[in-house]
Amino acid sequence: MKSMKVFMSLAVACLLGATAAVSGYSAAAQKKGGAQSQVARGREVYTSSCVRCHGADGAGHTRLAEIVEPPDMTDPAWQRQRSTARMIASVSNGRGQMPAFKKKLSRQDIAAAVAYVRTLKR
Ligand code: HEC
Repeated sequence: MKSMKVFMSLAVACLLGATAAVSGYSAAAQKKGGAQSQVARGREVYTSSCVRCHGADGAGHTRLAEIVEPPDMTDPAWQRQRSTARMIASVSNGRGQMPAFKKKLSRQDIAAAVAYVRTLKR
């Protein structure tokens, strides 16, 4: 009987260990996938809400850009000068000729769009 108990507790310990290993693995995979899916979502948001002014490449050569004159977001120096927090605030509250998006987009979508803007740097 005693050996049965030892065996059972060993089996339980093995099971717990295996579960912890699997969940640790999936948490890491999710984190990586999370960053990728944020950029993918950001691309969708950018395409539907931002392209008309900033252009697909972010350089801002659109018909509308002739009127509102957005910055060239592909410029590495321009990207360096702006923190992500500032970009999120500008898109949320508006800046210059850019309208505020906080009533149209969720905070997650604004953060995703800005994450996508980061990938437009040349
Ligand atoms: C109506 C045209 C228009 C649309 C639509 C638009 N923008 Fe802008 N955006 C501008 C203009 C113009 C500026 C320059 C603002 C300034 O500095 O005066 C700008 C600036 C920015 C900046 C720099 C802000 C800073 O702090 O310097 C970011 C980042 C940005 N836009 C991202 C976006 C994203 C993301 C979207 C879509 C959710 C978007 N824009 C939609 C016109 C637009």
